[in-house]
Amino acid sequence: MTATAETPVLPAHLRENVHLLPQTPLLRALHTIIRDRDVPRDQFVFHADRIIRMLLDAALDLLPFEPHQVRTPVGHVYEGLRFAERVCGVSVVRAGESMEAGLRAVLPPVRIGKILIQRDKETVQPHLYYTKLPADIAERNVLLLDPMLATAGTARMAVQVLLDHGVPEERIVFVNLLTAPEGIAALCDAHPRLRLVTSSIEQRLNENSYMLPGIGDFGDRYFGTDR
Ligand code: PRP
Ligand code: URA
Repeated sequence: MTATAETPVLPAHLRENVHLLPQTPLLRALHTIIRDRDVPRDQFVFHADRIIRMLLDAALDLLPFEPHQVRTPVGHVYEGLRFAERVCGVSVVRAGESMEAGLRAVLPPVRIGKILIQRDKETVQPHLYYTKLPADIAERNVLLLDPMLATAGTARMAVQVLLDHGVPEERIVFVNLLTAPEGIAALCDAHPRLRLVTSSIEQRLNENSYMLPGIGDFGDRYFGTDR
């Protein structure tokens, strides 16, 4: 993982799980726009979508590839690669749905399952309401989509749903914009073979279990349900 001076240092045993996007000036500039409390919603969505595309490419890069030769227009052989196994997406509704369009844009025929989990505003405990997954999910690599990892209550519940449907832990890649160190530890200690791709590790959680410096409520800002 690559970090900036501000990125909290994770314990060594967690660094294997976490793939932090390189903290390039472009990525930091995109984050600067979406963290601004005064940015208009269309700009928030546009720039969040750009980061989501970067995350999805990084997540796809973690999947297994196999050698694949093609012949080029000038008659030579290109020793290439192609995906070795099938993949699907699973979004954690609601905020995870913001990542579905990006996944469809890079993998047009992809199957997408949904797990509806809501975090109780008072207790911060997750509640599972609905699950619909591809029938053959146990034979696929799963990109689990949720832009926010705070306490990890939601992510742990979503991962448990996948495990209960026969998906091995090592075939799950959790794709996420913002993580809290507390959430990374809770998720990866419980599921040591899961991989997590993120674009930022935040400083900590506040007393309401929102991330700091954070972004506020991602789902509300993305879908326009904030005040
Ligand atoms: C948010 C977010 C994650 C969860 C993270 O969802 O999208 O799913 O909270 O918090 P945790 O790690 O402490 O569980 P929320 O339940 O607020 O619903 P939303 O997707 O409708 O915004
Ligand atoms: N959910 C969000 O949308 N933001 C946070 O900081 C924590 C949970």
